[in-house]
Amino acid sequence: MVSLVKITFFTAFCAIFANTAASRVLELSDRFLDIHKEGQWLVMMYAPWCAHCKRLEPVWAHVAQHLHETSIRVGRVDCTRFTNVAHSFKIRGFPTILFLKGDNEFVYHGDRTRDEIVKFAQRLSGPPVQEITKSQSFDTIKRDRDVYFLYVGEKSGSLWEVYRRAADVFQPHAFFYQSHPHVVGEHAPVQKAPALFVYKENCHYNFTGHDELDFEKLNSTLHEWVNAERFPTFPKITRGNINQIFLTNKNLVLAVVEENQLEEVSPDMLEFRDMVEEVIKKKREKYHDDFQFGWIANPELVNSMAMMVVPLPSLIVINTTTSHHHIPEDEPGKLTPHAIEMFLEQIRNESAPKFGGNGWLVRIYRSWFEMRTTFSAMWKGNPILTMVLFGLPAGFLSLICYGICCPDILDADEEEEEYSAGSHMKKD
Ligand SMILES: *[C@@H]1O[C@H](CO)[C@@H](O)[C@H](O)[C@H]1NC(C)=O
Ligand SMILES: *[C@@H]1O[C@H](CO)[C@@H](O)[C@H](O)[C@H]1NC(C)=O
Ligand SMILES: *[C@@H]1O[C@H](CO)[C@@H](O)[C@H](O)[C@H]1NC(C)=O
Ligand SMILES: *[C@@H]1O[C@H](CO)[C@@H](O)[C@H](O)[C@H]1NC(C)=O
Repeated sequence: MVSLVKITFFTAFCAIFANTAASRVLELSDRFLDIHKEGQWLVMMYAPWCAHCKRLEPVWAHVAQHLHETSIRVGRVDCTRFTNVAHSFKIRGFPTILFLKGDNEFVYHGDRTRDEIVKFAQRLSGPPVQEITKSQSFDTIKRDRDVYFLYVGEKSGSLWEVYRRAADVFQPHAFFYQSHPHVVGEHAPVQKAPALFVYKENCHYNFTGHDELDFEKLNSTLHEWVNAERFPTFPKITRGNINQIFLTNKNLVLAVVEENQLEEVSPDMLEFRDMVEEVIKKKREKYHDDFQFGWIANPELVNSMAMMVVPLPSLIVINTTTSHHHIPEDEPGKLTPHAIEMFLEQIRNESAPKFGGNGWLVRIYRSWFEMRTTFSAMWKGNPILTMVLFGLPAGFLSLICYGICCPDILDADEEEEEYSAGSHMKKD
């Protein structure tokens, strides 16, 4: 019996081992330091004990598989064994995902999903602005990219100059292309070159600040525009991208739902999410300038922003400039597209009530709320451990406090003067 278990274990072990061996991920060592400037590398810095790294492992194998035919080499470094590598890249946490290209080094901060990591590498592997010289290329780009920027015109002039600079800055986050009017043809409605567009799911929005003559002002207008436009119409908001999305300075309209362990959303919540998506898809032009829509499957993230436990599913709108939030008066279950539109109008004309914000009182309340939530989650998960964790130190602390304070309290009157006089001697 025992030996059978052993054998099963052994086979399983071999299977896992064979699996890693067959994967396209390169196992790198200290020698990587000699070669990392040659070509392009996408590297995961990991530690064998780290749970997040283990979770990333299958994703990483898929990433490597996906990028196999490209010039990007995908590898990983066990930082507990090859500490020189960890030191030289100043690795502080695991896993850290790096894209290396010559002397340039980019750290990945987004979601650890195959698609997002692959896009990150693909954006960085080319030049910041990629030139399109063939009309047919647009078909591939339209198929593969949910969001991209397109500049149509000569590579000169101030608009080109600021576009190129913005592309340098935002290269890890978005795809930037350049082409000429005769190549673009019917793919973009160019009336006058140069023109600048952003494409989202085959709809386009144009940049209208061309006329600005002041270079600095044109630069900052374009930067803000790129920053606000680089997200898809209805993205999933996660811990990985929420900080980026806050930089849009738009109102963030969030459908809040819950996901189970398998990342599945229940049908009624799915229905709610689709209803919210309908609002933006039907009225893109109307809401595009002031509102960024999205959905979130991480209620805790919303709870800590709203400082309350939001019902599921629900709708919340966050003003990303001031961090205020708005909640519709109707029950979420009774929300209709029409009710949502009325609600958004009220937000636009500033007649909707607002909550929260970023004042110091609110910040204190938020910290307290988060502490309480963490504590109650721990309590639900493991009451005994929580009691030991918080109870023991609290017990010691109160003993110590008692020891320090009580004598003082008893004869505080007598000692006060002497302490303030700087003498630490006690009266007899
Ligand atoms: C950009 O959009 C505005 C308004 O929708 C339109 O008047 C203008 O002609 C467009 N510009 C280009 C270059 O397409
Ligand atoms: C352009 O604007 C961005 C953001 O406002 C700024 O970081 C950058 O330094 C500016 N570049 C120039 C050349 O002014
Ligand atoms: C956020 O709130 C401020 C203050 O109420 C307001 O001026 C601003 O327009 C709001 N932002 C958006 C995108 O509506
Ligand atoms: C704001 O918009 C709502 C919805 O359209 C409307 O009922 C309300 O009267 C408006 N308030 C102001 C102050 O314009």
